Amino acid sequence: MGPGLRIDVAMPPPPSTRRVTPLAGWSVVAVFLLLGAALFATVWTTRSSVAGATTAVGRGEAIAIEQAVRADLASLEGPPIETDLADLLKEHADEGLRYIAMVEGRRDVVVLAAGTAVGEGPAEAIGVGRHPQEIDGRIRMQLRAVRRMKTGGRATRFVIEVEPIQAADLREAATRTLAIGVIAAAMLLAVGIFVIRLEGRRQDEERRRDQERRLASLGEMSAVLAHEIKNPLASLKGNAQLLMAMLPDGEKPRAKAARVVDEAVRLEKLTQDLLAFVRTGTIQRAAVDPVALAREVASECAAPAAVTIDATGAPTRWSLDAARIREVLVNLVDNALAAGAPVHVRVGRAQRRLRIDVEDRGPGVPADERDKIFEAFVTSKTHGTGLGLAVVRRVVELHGGTVVVMAGGGDGEQPGALFRVEIPEA
Ligand SMILES: Nc1ncnc2c1ncn2[C@@H]1O[C@H](COP(=O)(O)OP(=O)(O)OP(=O)(O)O)[C@@H](O)[C@H]1O
Ligand SMILES: [Mg+2]
Repeated sequence: MGPGLRIDVAMPPPPSTRRVTPLAGWSVVAVFLLLGAALFATVWTTRSSVAGATTAVGRGEAIAIEQAVRADLASLEGPPIETDLADLLKEHADEGLRYIAMVEGRRDVVVLAAGTAVGEGPAEAIGVGRHPQEIDGRIRMQLRAVRRMKTGGRATRFVIEVEPIQAADLREAATRTLAIGVIAAAMLLAVGIFVIRLEGRRQDEERRRDQERRLASLGEMSAVLAHEIKNPLASLKGNAQLLMAMLPDGEKPRAKAARVVDEAVRLEKLTQDLLAFVRTGTIQRAAVDPVALAREVASECAAPAAVTIDATGAPTRWSLDAARIREVLVNLVDNALAAGAPVHVRVGRAQRRLRIDVEDRGPGVPADERDKIFEAFVTSKTHGTGLGLAVVRRVVELHGGTVVVMAGGGDGEQPGALFRVEIPEA
């Protein structure tokens, strides 16, 4: 572009700040969760009250059977014999009668019996209190009126055991309702979680698109600026270098010219970084020796002696865009050297991924800044552009990989930072 050319940069509209959420966002999730919780609470309370009622229902059943049995016994002529009890048991089995016995004496010794009693010790004695008792899901009770029926001059009593069938049915129904309620609540919860996930993903996507829109406009502007600055800057630097060469050593003007050269170099780096940052699109992958690449970067950095390379377990070839991964390594090593030497670069493999660790002995990166430093223009350096790590992340992500920063293995004042790049197979 010529010097007189006007540059028109079309700025996309600013990202809208008002978020329109199709599902009304978190309120829907809250409604689902509340519904699930309410349903569960209702079913649970119902079951608890039914469980309380079943005891009363069971006793009612037992009393009804006791009355029927009592009437049957009263209609017998004379004291019952074993077959009478068996007949009684058969007659009332459907209603839940499971055992009937004639007992005598203070220890309730069984004289006659039909059916089997539960949870009792010696067969010839059966303990029975004044009131109905629950034993192993059955209700055991004495028959009231025939209690003192005289059989052969001895005082005898009758004892029955009843299985409360209706109460059991009731309890079963309540448990079934509870199970259905739990399943329904769980389903509501699952739907809630699903909606949360969906919502989260949607918001991430929106944030990413916002960011991209912002970066796109920024990138467009930067690219134009960088491109426009590049040529005049090159001539500025060249002329300043010439001037420097012409001026005698140790003179003030020469120092000033040197300063111009330095600043031009810095601006040149800025334009390069900007162009690298806005460069998007596809990457050209080819089989590359990642260790050789790391060695090359180390040998060309500001302090080669301070950088060590560990290639244990490193793959000999990996499909990478060599030029762009080089940018990644240059940025990471430069940052590491600026933070604190020595710098260790480890090239290796983690499962099916190429792993490159760059670790220093600097102050490290505080946990709450570990995400932020990868954003463009975030820098703590007076002469930094804050584009280095943004380029790193972009290039690594173009390779389908990840880059994270964690605490290094140092201690005390110099814990160090460890930047970990992982790139999957192509
Ligand atoms: N190894 C490290 N140890 C501690 N802090 C780091 C390290 N690497 C990066 N940082 C922090 O992250 C910030 C951003 O780094 P980034 O490389 O993106 O930009 P920069 O180094 O400041 O500038 P430049 O664009 O020149 O690279 C740095 O300013 C620094 O505060
Ligand atoms: Mg940097």
